[in-house]
Amino acid sequence: KVATNEELYRPNLHFTPKSGWMNDPNGMFFYKGLYHLYFQYYPNDNVWGPMHWGHATSKDMITWKEEKPGLYPDEKGYIFSGSAVVDVNNTSGFGNKENPPIVAMFTYHDAAKAKTGAIDFQSQAIAYSLDKGMTWTKYKNNPVIKNPNIKDFRDPKMTWDAIHNQWIMVLAADVETQIYRSSNLIDWELASGFGKNLGVHGAPWECPDFFPMKVEGSTETKWVLLQSINPGGPNGGSATQYFVGDFDGKTFSIGDSFLQDLNQFGALWVDHGKDNYAGVTWANVPNSDGRKLFMGWMSNWQYADKVPTENWRGSTTIPRELKLINTDGHYRIVSLPVKELDKYISKTIKKEPLTIDKTTVIVDKSKVDMARFDIRFTMNNLKDDNYDFILSNKENNAVYFGINKKEKFFYINRKNASQKTFSNEFAKTISKAPITSNFNSIEVRVVIDKTSIEVFYDNGKTVMTEIFFPDKPMESFSVVKADSDFELKNITINQLKI
Ligand code: FRU
Repeated sequence: KVATNEELYRPNLHFTPKSGWMNDPNGMFFYKGLYHLYFQYYPNDNVWGPMHWGHATSKDMITWKEEKPGLYPDEKGYIFSGSAVVDVNNTSGFGNKENPPIVAMFTYHDAAKAKTGAIDFQSQAIAYSLDKGMTWTKYKNNPVIKNPNIKDFRDPKMTWDAIHNQWIMVLAADVETQIYRSSNLIDWELASGFGKNLGVHGAPWECPDFFPMKVEGSTETKWVLLQSINPGGPNGGSATQYFVGDFDGKTFSIGDSFLQDLNQFGALWVDHGKDNYAGVTWANVPNSDGRKLFMGWMSNWQYADKVPTENWRGSTTIPRELKLINTDGHYRIVSLPVKELDKYISKTIKKEPLTIDKTTVIVDKSKVDMARFDIRFTMNNLKDDNYDFILSNKENNAVYFGINKKEKFFYINRKNASQKTFSNEFAKTISKAPITSNFNSIEVRVVIDKTSIEVFYDNGKTVMTEIFFPDKPMESFSVVKADSDFELKNITINQLKI
């Protein structure tokens, strides 16, 4: 029996729409026990088209139930990316405190107007839901923010700013982030712009997110701006950079140490792999939980509409918890899979420490289903050599990843992983992430689904996410002999069952 693309490529652990096209996650909020995910969605084809907000709900961000689309395009335009918040105190007046409205803000993209050559075809509009996000009413006086004659003017992300007691919203305005404030989610005032000369530019910025975070192990609070850009990613195409700084209620500014970081690295990236774009965080996660929960679109505009899936295209990344750390005065975002993923562990294999003096199979399909597992280990006694891991099958499909300590980069190489003729960009180069510190021991965690690999080094300090499309399912996971022997310790393999 020949496996269909559906069987071969539909992920087990990641959300995908049953059919149609998906890109950015939108409007993510948590309310009454349910995580909501809306997403850029075109139900009628597996390529991008007039955008809707598809909808899915989940109790744990891992198992999703697809719902009816939340928002449909209308005579004012396509429904581009945006956000949603639970208006707990009914500041908008759309509901009441007993049944607080959920308020969404999105970009109207007037495609007909865009065709005329006009540049003011994107504006911000709102909608509200009085039934916990299941159905939506568009506000009658839309748009709430008209286009100020900026061609790329989109992707509003709202947050309740408890520090300054106001709603804030950030959107991408050409090559800067604009920060707006409001008391009622309807009337918005432009407070400031950020970033014209900072970070990576050269293409419009898209899909920002802006929120305060506690610095781990301290009482300090800093503000974090996530700012996607396409193209301009570190390995080509789409990626998400971030900035850490201070916010006085109107203006966001980065300090000297972050400026130094930008001077050194050009930009700081949430994920260095090619397939994590337009990611943002969930609104209204209760204070008692306190986590910053993030999810991105696991694809890249370079080839998203060409990947060899049939009924649908696009998926989300594994949801991740973001943390902000301070290492020697330098702020960094780290991310790891949410702990909810561990609920799906159906079997754990622990292995004794191994000295790697020859190429060694760590686990294969006789022990775990290689299309849904998580593996964690510590690498010890590392020298300035190359350390390579391989996920492969007998068809000679192989995804390589690892650490090149000689030339100081982490990498994923999918050149021989899979089908790749669908796009010249897909496997043109090896994706790399810089190694910026000295270590001879490192913790590694890898989540493998049918068609994706998500690698978290050093407790999430460096992350790489990539997709691949093997001809047959992967069958084994090995570590390659390096120029010098090293040790693999704390090897834990978790079968994930969903
Ligand atoms: C990012 C993006 C957004 C836009 C949406 C359109 O991937 O280009 O800027 O709102 O996709 O689908």
